[in-house]
Amino acid sequence: MKSPINIVILAAGLGTRMKSKRAKVLHRAGGLTLIEHVVNAASGITTPEHITVVVGCQAEQVKAALAQSGVRFVEQKEQKGTGHALMMCREALSTQGGLVVVAYGDGPLLSRVTLQALVDRQAAGDRAATLITTRLDDPTGYGRIIQGKDGDVQSIVEQKAATPQQLAIPLINSGIYCFQADLLWKHIAEIGTDNPAGEYYLTDIVEILNRAGHKVAALEIPDSEELLGINTRAELAAVDKIFRDRKVRALMLEGVTIEKPETVTIDCAVRIGEDSIVGPFAQILGKTEIGEDSRIGACSIVENSKLGDRVQVNPFTSIVDSQVQADAQIGPFARLRPGNRVGPGAHIGNFVELKNTQFGAGAKANHLAYLGDAEIGDKTNIGAGTITCNYDGAQKHRTRIGKEVFVGSNSTLVAPIEIGDESYIGAGSVITAAVPKDALALGRARQVVKEGWAAKRKKKK
Ligand code: UD1
Ligand code: CA
Repeated sequence: MKSPINIVILAAGLGTRMKSKRAKVLHRAGGLTLIEHVVNAASGITTPEHITVVVGCQAEQVKAALAQSGVRFVEQKEQKGTGHALMMCREALSTQGGLVVVAYGDGPLLSRVTLQALVDRQAAGDRAATLITTRLDDPTGYGRIIQGKDGDVQSIVEQKAATPQQLAIPLINSGIYCFQADLLWKHIAEIGTDNPAGEYYLTDIVEILNRAGHKVAALEIPDSEELLGINTRAELAAVDKIFRDRKVRALMLEGVTIEKPETVTIDCAVRIGEDSIVGPFAQILGKTEIGEDSRIGACSIVENSKLGDRVQVNPFTSIVDSQVQADAQIGPFARLRPGNRVGPGAHIGNFVELKNTQFGAGAKANHLAYLGDAEIGDKTNIGAGTITCNYDGAQKHRTRIGKEVFVGSNSTLVAPIEIGDESYIGAGSVITAAVPKDALALGRARQVVKEGWAAKRKKKK
């Protein structure tokens, strides 16, 4: 049987330097939490049951963020350092042999390709471990790699403990290692707390292995960007920008036009079809999918939604958790709250709000309307100012409007209510009872005209 590759991701720390109530690995870059990025990379080279995430601070929230991934969790109740975090996995993993890869949860740019290269290098040699390193112009904050004449790694010195000469070393510890499992578990208990922070530093394992007569190799990778670790909000913003730039570049190469690409925000998981156009300052978030030849207008926000081909989203529109089918036109200044399905060729115009509404094929609501908990049939026209009164102060009720209905401007539809196919509703009506098919419903006071009334009033004064 092939020995397994176990991957341990350390994610128990709070991240004091973030100055946040939220655990560092739950902060987001490119629309995903940091820990999701690292788990995604790990999932590229091993199965979820061989991925162990060490949780501690806000363990429940971290587990929830990874609930879909199928990875395993180990708890580190007190955060006594990276070495201590890995010790927590000894019981679960030490009987399995093979290789143990360790990565930190705050390095989200790590790629599957680099992880695989690390494993391949370790498997091909006779070293006890291999670690990934790179050269940084400004290595401040990172551990420095101390190499012997043969190029192997003798030790890692943390920033806080380094001498001025060591601080000048540009080769940094990325925090990504691949160990021969038996040697790791044999020696891990030798890590102590004799350092300025009084923590169990995982980095000490390198010197410990050397002392026991084993060698540790360094795999230097030229793309140092991939190894950036996040400790502060400024670093979070820098990494977020890298994800955004990559995403925009990838979409453009796939045939999407992005106007003023430096202004848009597009999450990593978004998919957009060929010849679609994204306007300046648009935000396309979450698991949104957009078809071909569609347009997302300037300053619009589309989140967790599915848009078909040739959909036109005009500027300043917000669409959340909704589906919009081919050839529909939405906005400008429209708001689709969660749960809508807008049919093909439909028009939703300015200052129209939809919530939990099925909007039929070719139906129109071109101006100023609220349509909530409603079903609106094909080719129905909703006049300006129409309101579905879906809430009676205690409960929500549904409005059902058939196909090819004409709802006059400023109509108030008090739910629950049904309006039959091809019926008409006079402008300004308050509709409280069902309207049958083909009927005209008028729900307003008859107009009174008093001839000469105004002239008489003026004379009296
Ligand atoms: C660590 C390395 C440093 C390296 C840098 C790369 C150590 C001692 N130092 O420093 O050599 O250059 O990463 O980014 O390892 N964690 C736990 N439990 C703990 C402490 C930390 O799970 O008790 C987790 C954190 O949640 C985090 C990761 O380990 O995801 C790294 O911890 P952090 O405190 O950020 O280490 P650095 O000081 O950046
Ligand atoms: Ca870090």
